[in-house]
Amino acid sequence: MPERKKLLLGNWKMNHTIAEAKVFCDSLKETKELAKEKKILIGVCPSYLCLETLKKKAKGIIVGAQDVSAFEKGAYTAQVSIPMLKELGVTWSIIGHSERREYNGETNQGCNAKVKALVKNQMTAVYCVGESLETYEAGKTNEWVGTQIREGLEGLSKEDMDNVVIAYEPIWAIGTGKTATPEIAENVCGFIRDVLKDMFGKGVANKVKILYGGSVKPGNVHELIGQADIDGALVGGASLKAEDFKALVENL
Ligand code: PGA
Repeated sequence: MPERKKLLLGNWKMNHTIAEAKVFCDSLKETKELAKEKKILIGVCPSYLCLETLKKKAKGIIVGAQDVSAFEKGAYTAQVSIPMLKELGVTWSIIGHSERREYNGETNQGCNAKVKALVKNQMTAVYCVGESLETYEAGKTNEWVGTQIREGLEGLSKEDMDNVVIAYEPIWAIGTGKTATPEIAENVCGFIRDVLKDMFGKGVANKVKILYGGSVKPGNVHELIGQADIDGALVGGASLKAEDFKALVENL
């Protein structure tokens, strides 16, 4: 089985000004050394405005956007295109975060177009899926997440999947302090791997990184990421302060 390197990715959401991002970068040296020692990939997805600062001041870590347009250019007010990211050397983007789905009406089909546009440009898409509390309580998590995976990744080739990372984030666990138990998270991530096997074959399914996200903290990162099908974490709140970010790397 191919070794899947662990990945710790911060999602800053609408937090941190450029000045605050600089403060974060100033205390990153030890964290980077530690990550290198432990062979963990680390990265941060800040606001668009902070991307350039991070590319310059946080060398050696992944710097990703939180979303990107599926279109190359044109009359799409307030959108940011792939060529704009590329110019900054940014080659990763989160796609389909539940907050984008909820507040900006993103659909699986819309996400599919964005994932396709990214992989076509040899850029990495971190495609987010996850169910609401209602869906979870109705016992329909797999059905929901399975559809998000199938529709969001429809039409991609096996080779395209080299540039796709999946993030499973149950909506009821995001920013709520309610983490899914390692068992719940592992069950769903294992299920996602089965869907990937069905869509792209065993080789691809064994290679793709699947992250867990939702109230990951230094105190619970170890047991969550210790699960067989969980290859890392997408972290919101606990990725904002350099000392918490360091503690996540230490404990992973
Ligand atoms: P949280 O956010 O770690 O603050 O729960 C995770 C996410 O939404 O990516």
